[in-house]
Amino acid sequence: MERENFGSKVGAILAAAGSAVGLGNVWRFPIETGQNGGAAFIIIYVLCILALGLPIMISEFLIGRYTHANTAGAFRIVSNGSPWKWVGRMGVFTGWFILCYYVVVGAWTMHYTFLSVTNAFYEVPAREYETIFNGFVSNPWMPTLWLLVFIGVIHYVITRGVQSGIEKSAKLMMPTLFVITVFLAICSVSLPGASQGIEFLLRPDWSKVNSTVVLEAMGQAFYSLSLAMGCLCTYASYFDKKTPLAKSAVNVAVIDTLIAIMAGFIIFPSVFNIGMDPNEVGVGASLTFVSLPNVFQQALGDGSVLAVVFSTLFYFLLFVAALTSAISLHEVATAYVTEEFGMSRKRGATLVTVSILVLGTLCSLSFGPLSDVKLFDRNIFSIFDDLSGRILLPIGGMLISIFAGWVLDRKLYHDELSNGGDLKAPYFKLLVFSLRYIAPLAIGLVLLDQMGVFQFLALK
Ligand code: PFF
Repeated sequence: MERENFGSKVGAILAAAGSAVGLGNVWRFPIETGQNGGAAFIIIYVLCILALGLPIMISEFLIGRYTHANTAGAFRIVSNGSPWKWVGRMGVFTGWFILCYYVVVGAWTMHYTFLSVTNAFYEVPAREYETIFNGFVSNPWMPTLWLLVFIGVIHYVITRGVQSGIEKSAKLMMPTLFVITVFLAICSVSLPGASQGIEFLLRPDWSKVNSTVVLEAMGQAFYSLSLAMGCLCTYASYFDKKTPLAKSAVNVAVIDTLIAIMAGFIIFPSVFNIGMDPNEVGVGASLTFVSLPNVFQQALGDGSVLAVVFSTLFYFLLFVAALTSAISLHEVATAYVTEEFGMSRKRGATLVTVSILVLGTLCSLSFGPLSDVKLFDRNIFSIFDDLSGRILLPIGGMLISIFAGWVLDRKLYHDELSNGGDLKAPYFKLLVFSLRYIAPLAIGLVLLDQMGVFQFLALK
């Protein structure tokens, strides 16, 4: 079967950036930054990206582009049939696993866009936002319905193929996302009292930086860049031989970090404008769906046109960010089943879609009718979230860096990185050094931390 490629370099970069820019940029990065030392945290985060994020991203790009195969196939080829082939399969599994819960939140962003555009937050008392959110997610029907729509959109894009589906949608959605982000940040920054918010986000406070903060920065860099889940490897398998791998990786990392910082400019000036304690806004779902709708209403004028527009654009932005990431995760699994089991793209995509529909619904219902189904005191959603983010992701990242640094043929690596000698790669030795030593060690620490080992040993 003829394998598609991305039609342009810009399309390829935007698609990969679409994978990276996701919920993590908005609902985690800004608050982590504000609470963990502002600019000091950003510097550490950028160092993590340079020291381990980029080397791993470049390696994933390289393996994908060299093999022009889905992630499992790619690792099978480069591992020459050794047990390292399992790293690819694991990436596919992790990506698919993440997708099962990621779509649930994607569905919530659609509902909140709808609530915003219909001015449903008008005259809602501050304490009611939590009740609204809990009422929504525990309802057996509404979230499931939105889930169906969200997955439907992903399915549509995926079945249209690499160029007319993924690339075209990325070329449309990523600039849209960027424009909305800039617009919202400018609005928020022009509010009275905004400067305190900017100060909270950016003022460097090195006294807050400790080993926990560094580990958090590393974990966030990993998740945010979509490493170790097959996404980058799969997308790179559609790059052509002329795509500069290192430059593309740098572009993706820059776009991802810029959007994450700008999300902070959207959130904190508004929070300070209404005199709220930024340490009380929460993180993740509680920040996004409980604190922020209230903050936006109050900061921009309850029920005002500005509040409606701002809030609608904000949730739409989240929706677009979640969608482009979810598409990349779906593609990992679709490319895998179509190529490994010789199915048509349509059939493969349908199989993946049905599987996430079933498991996504279970995750979604775990806030309502299935809330009693628990393992280690976690509901189904948290099991998917924790297992993938805390365990599978760091293990995958570590294995990829060890494989790329120690096992993969050096000459092959250099040839591919330099596009057969066309490009210079003066950073090659540094890259290999990181893949061999820095990345595995650092990720090993993240892994132990995520598994709670340090806490257990009372080191934290
Ligand atoms: N990078 C995305 C985010 O920051 O939300 C999440 C994500 C997407 C993780 C795709 C992993 C992935 F493969």
